[in-house]
Amino acid sequence: MYSFEEIIGHLINKVPEELTGHSKFLSVLAYIVAKQLKEDHPELKLDDLFADHMKIASKLHDLGKINIDKNILNKPDKLTTEEYRIMKMHTVYGLMVLTEMTKGISLDINERKLFTICKEVILLHHEREDGSGYPIGINRIPLSAQIMAVVDTYDALTTNRVYHNKVTKEEALEILDHDDDKYNPMVVDSLKRVLAKKDFAEIVNNPPLKEVGLSCSYCR
Ligand SMILES: [Fe+2]
Ligand SMILES: [Fe+2]
Repeated sequence: MYSFEEIIGHLINKVPEELTGHSKFLSVLAYIVAKQLKEDHPELKLDDLFADHMKIASKLHDLGKINIDKNILNKPDKLTTEEYRIMKMHTVYGLMVLTEMTKGISLDINERKLFTICKEVILLHHEREDGSGYPIGINRIPLSAQIMAVVDTYDALTTNRVYHNKVTKEEALEILDHDDDKYNPMVVDSLKRVLAKKDFAEIVNNPPLKEVGLSCSYCR
């Protein structure tokens, strides 16, 4: 029987290689945004391990794409309605894979917290606060998935995609600000603070890492 830690490590290695750069980049960004949020909003009483758990969970956010046909995943053109419907299923597939792989494993208290955050991030990172997201269309989204939604969208906007050329950091933050009915403004503010700090900006805007993130074209 494998330990929970070993299973999570195995699943991280299962993430399609086209998405490795995107997942690594978001892992760094989600971690530092979660830390910043804890500092900015003590009233949230975030767990000391919350940022560490976000670092791991974000690496798995697109895990379900292992079940998406490569022809759809890597299609260089706009997806058809049916292909987009299939692509959206990556949220549900990811949760199914995680649940299946961890069946029967006993978890300690911290592993249970990590497991919950992984499930939230995987299933709900495309949900939006106005209910316009998928796969369910809920508008009460856990903080973990709200953070994931903000950093995933930031990455999608600042990366060249099938639908548009990348925008600047400032333009991306303006879009996130404007869409305050979709994205948690507290999280967007913490992202802004992170991006304003030179040492964080150096990590986040690391060109080689960003380049590899190009392949996740349909995250938004
Ligand atoms: Fe996704
Ligand atoms: Fe993604």
